[in-house]
Amino acid sequence: MKVLIVGSGGREHAIAWSVAKSPKVDKIYCAPGNAGIAEYAECVDIGAMEFEKLAAFAKEKEIDLTIVGMDDPLVGGIVDVFEAEGLRVFGPRKNAAILEGSKAFSKDLMKKYDIPTAAYENFDDPEKALEYLRTEAKFPIVLKADGLALGKGVLICQDLAEAEAGVKEIMEDKKFGNAGNTMVIEEFMTGREVSVLSFVDGKTIRTMTSAQDHKRAKDGDQGLNTGGMGTFSPSPFYTPEVDEFCKKYIYQKTVDAMASEGRPFKGIIFFGLMLTADGPKVLEYNARFGDPEAQVVLPRMENDIIEVMEACVDGNLDQIDLKFEDNAAVCVVLASDGYPVKYEKGIPIQGFENFKDKDGYYCFHAGTKFKDGQIVTNGGRVLGITAKGKTLKEARKNAYAATEWISFANKYMRHDIGKAIDEA
Ligand code: AMP
Ligand code: GLY
Repeated sequence: MKVLIVGSGGREHAIAWSVAKSPKVDKIYCAPGNAGIAEYAECVDIGAMEFEKLAAFAKEKEIDLTIVGMDDPLVGGIVDVFEAEGLRVFGPRKNAAILEGSKAFSKDLMKKYDIPTAAYENFDDPEKALEYLRTEAKFPIVLKADGLALGKGVLICQDLAEAEAGVKEIMEDKKFGNAGNTMVIEEFMTGREVSVLSFVDGKTIRTMTSAQDHKRAKDGDQGLNTGGMGTFSPSPFYTPEVDEFCKKYIYQKTVDAMASEGRPFKGIIFFGLMLTADGPKVLEYNARFGDPEAQVVLPRMENDIIEVMEACVDGNLDQIDLKFEDNAAVCVVLASDGYPVKYEKGIPIQGFENFKDKDGYYCFHAGTKFKDGQIVTNGGRVLGITAKGKTLKEARKNAYAATEWISFANKYMRHDIGKAIDEA
């Protein structure tokens, strides 16, 4: 098979690594890719939002399966463009990717189908939102821009003044662009967060092992929200009881709800869950692998990823038994100092050779590129260092040891990824 992967981050590197292991695959392309992905794939200089160019490329190269890693092209309808050209593609169509693309849609879906989530109201008029905040709201309260906002469109407001400023930022100043035309105002929940990713074929869902992300930039969950500074898998807080509850009230119900709405979902559903005192509730849905969740989940998956993805496309996922290794993995993101605000790029990176032939250690590239025959930094999140271990503690120790194998001048990381394990 010839496979095309669309995307350029650490998640796409983990997908490319996984695809490269499949005995079915003999050629991988990645658009646009990065310096690490280039080890497994021929990188092609086409942007992820250039649907027509990508489809033309897939036709020309006779690609057998295209895998879309990122949210923007999925929400923008890349799958519909490929399907219209008769191309096989893994991912939800536009009318299903809305599960991530519109928070107002996903909240209404959960309400209609009685899927546990925080209480909320949707607003498309800032005056009405302000009136609600002044008369009915309890604080703290959560404001969410409806559309995609790089994970940054969520504001937790402690009091009315903060919330009023939030409405201005999202709906009036349009800090997140059109994503803020509609806004969700939501009850603030407390508890542990867990991510569960799943494969879905329109009817059947198969969940993967659990993971937990660390979204804030600094140790102790301080600093600004980022795309994710590190992950561990499995989450010790995702107990068999939690799993049973979610299987009964969340996972299959979501898939059935989408099918009932005439929006059958094929691809990955990422369930962002909050384990509250009243039981697990959905924080958000994503329509793709998490980044850096994929970097801890995929190295532990025993299945051939191509077989599972083809089963999703063909609608026979019920034939697949998903299996994960009985171990743990931790990923520590090496970022450019100053991320997510301002940082330098183009800095040479040393030490990749240390990962050669080291079983259970992975150096997934996120923001890297080749410059004058050398690999240099090319983004805020630069690399994801993943290590496996028999236990979470061992995986954590291994991952932090491996972060020392890499050096670049403005290397920055959190030192407490997976620290929560100690409390489990
Ligand atoms: P989201 O993009 O919806 O996952 O929100 C980003 C982050 O904001 C989540 O990972 C939570 O840490 C936090 N968050 C979102 N919604 C809520 C809520 N209703 N209560 C408390 N925290 C929330
Ligand atoms: N790591 C969170 C996300 O990919 O949305």
